[in-house]
Amino acid sequence: LSTRVSLVVNGKQVTATVDNRTSLLDLLREHLGLTGSKKGCNAGACGACTVLVDGRRVNGCLTLAVRLEGAKVTTIEGLENGDRLHPLQQAFIDQDAFQCGFCTPGQIMSGIGCLQEGHTGSADEIREWMSGNLCRCGCYVKITRAVEQAAR
Ligand code: FES
Ligand code: FES
Repeated sequence: LSTRVSLVVNGKQVTATVDNRTSLLDLLREHLGLTGSKKGCNAGACGACTVLVDGRRVNGCLTLAVRLEGAKVTTIEGLENGDRLHPLQQAFIDQDAFQCGFCTPGQIMSGIGCLQEGHTGSADEIREWMSGNLCRCGCYVKITRAVEQAAR
C-alpha cells in the first residue's frame, strides 16, 4: 500500500508517494537525495539518523514517513545559512569533534536538540542528553566540548 505525503523539508515543500512502511530516513535518503542523515543500525540504537521533526529530535529510522503529513523536518543539509555554517557545525570543526564523520550529522542534529531544549548546563548534562548518539571513533569528549562551545 502506498500513500501520498506532503511535508516541509529544510524549508521546501515536498510531496512523495511512498510505501506505507517507508521510514523518514529512507524518504530523505532514497526519495529526496538527502544523504547527510546516516543509516547505522536502522533500529533506533545509534542515533546516526537523528533529524528534527517540528523542532524535536527523532530517529529517522523509527519514524514512518506517512505519519508526517504537514510536518516540518530539518536535516543536516538544512543548517547552513548561505555560506555560513551553523555555530554547532563550526564548533565541531573548531573542537576537532569527528574522525570518520559517519556519526557526525546525527550528533550535530542531536546537539541542536540539546541546545534548543536547554540541556547544556554542564558537560554531564550534555553527555546524558546526547547518550542516544554513538560514535565508534570515540570522539565523545570533543563532541561534548563542541556542544559546550555552541552553548556559550
Ligand atoms: Fe537510526 Fe541507528 S540508524 S538509530
Ligand atoms: Fe566516526 Fe563518530 S566520528 S563514528
